[in-house]
Amino acid sequence: MRLTEATATNPSTGESPGAGTLRPLGAREAAGVVGDVLLPVLAGGVIVRRPRAMGLVERTGWDRRGVERVRALRQRHGSGPLPLTVRGRSYALVLDPEDAERVLAGTPEPFSPATREKRGALAQFQPHGVLVSGGSERAARREFVTQVLQTPQPLHDLAGPLTGVVREEAAALLAEAERSGQLRWEEFDAAWWRTVRRVVLGDAARDDVTLTAQLGALRSAANWSLLSPRRKRLRSAFLARVREYVAAAEPGSLAARVAATDAPPGTDRAGQVPHWLFAYDAAGMATARALALLATHPREGERAREEARGGDPAAPRELPYLRGCALESVRLWPTTPLILRESTEETSWPGGTLPAGCVFALYTPYLHRAEPAAPYGDTFAPQQWTARSGRAARANPALVPFSSGPAGCPGQNLVLLTTSTLLAALLERHTYTLASHPGLRPAAPVPATLDHFALRFRVHPDPGSGPR
Ligand code: HEM
Repeated sequence: MRLTEATATNPSTGESPGAGTLRPLGAREAAGVVGDVLLPVLAGGVIVRRPRAMGLVERTGWDRRGVERVRALRQRHGSGPLPLTVRGRSYALVLDPEDAERVLAGTPEPFSPATREKRGALAQFQPHGVLVSGGSERAARREFVTQVLQTPQPLHDLAGPLTGVVREEAAALLAEAERSGQLRWEEFDAAWWRTVRRVVLGDAARDDVTLTAQLGALRSAANWSLLSPRRKRLRSAFLARVREYVAAAEPGSLAARVAATDAPPGTDRAGQVPHWLFAYDAAGMATARALALLATHPREGERAREEARGGDPAAPRELPYLRGCALESVRLWPTTPLILRESTEETSWPGGTLPAGCVFALYTPYLHRAEPAAPYGDTFAPQQWTARSGRAARANPALVPFSSGPAGCPGQNLVLLTTSTLLAALLERHTYTLASHPGLRPAAPVPATLDHFALRFRVHPDPGSGPR
């Protein structure tokens, strides 16, 4: 159901439904969207987060302003896609859950995920990635990626080795944290990347920080999308290194699956791997933020610990509650704040039409937090992902932490397996106090931004729990 029925006349045009092309927002309102919605997303870094800017966005409450700006526009203009023109390019903000579903389900035709902005940015490090591919190439690459990542399976075939790797790296991280009494983002991030390189490329890549640094430099250039020149030499060096790992095909790694899975010519199998490395970074942020939520919400923290301690921790487990915590972390702080689709033809909406080439923007902080996310909005509610009732988050098309439809994230299950396994290992025999971010507490709305770079925990081993 629409949040508000489309008004009989379109307030931005004064015209009746079906009266032709929807007219864009006026210059003042469009400038408000640019200032409060687009700029904080761009400043924070779309492809790789910028630490200083993230701190600024958090301190100034910029993301909250973005949500409020969009809420006010919806109250004024209704919930149809709101067209606006930015630097001559046609955009439409998608505000209604049903419209969000239509756009994501109608991918890649007539809503292509390979927008000009994404092609410009991602070509820096994954010129053949499925997300920036079109036509038959896209179909072959998506099929290949789905097979290797085993998209529909909650437990990947590699869940056994993956669980071992995650637990080993968590144990090393915890040993260090016990010595210092604290866990900061820097140490968490380093351990996370060791884990990711082992899971994706194999144990030989564990300490290959150069590879991650190369990817980081390419991602920084990608933040500038079309404005930045290609760093072709660095890109060749990075891609060659990835190909070497795939050729070595270390058993138990995704690289081995890549090498063993057939695909039509032109798929560029190894060329799909850079996206996985890049996207696993978001999963690290989501995990650290989930730990912050659990550290500050005692009831949920206790339930998570109970799940972490149940069953055989060394065996792969589905851990639904901890998966719900990771999903909540991405719902509350979406790692893709703007999901973009570019229309390949004219499209019709209740108030009129939008031209081909229009970029449909799903601003997830609004969809995940404001009216479409009722009743939980600004509350940490992992139970909504496990609920079977009508209030289940999975039934709400506005909640798209991993996007949805034919270009929805094919790595979702693998991510949830990795993050929940790590959270379980961290929570099994330790509790945490969040030493940063005093604003995060059960009695207050969850803050709109959480600068993960600033996260710092005090770590308390359970009494009497010796090393295992
Ligand atoms: C917390 C972690 C992650 C989140 C929140 C996430 C979310 C998303 C979202 C929102 C999209 C759609 C992007 C768009 O339409 O522009 C996407 C696409 C994609 N994700 Fe993820 N992702 C995560 C991690 C991963 C990982 C670790 C992998 C691989 C191992 C992965 C593989 C992909 C691929 C291949 C696509 C492109 C799909 C296509 O174009 O058909 N993601 N992801």
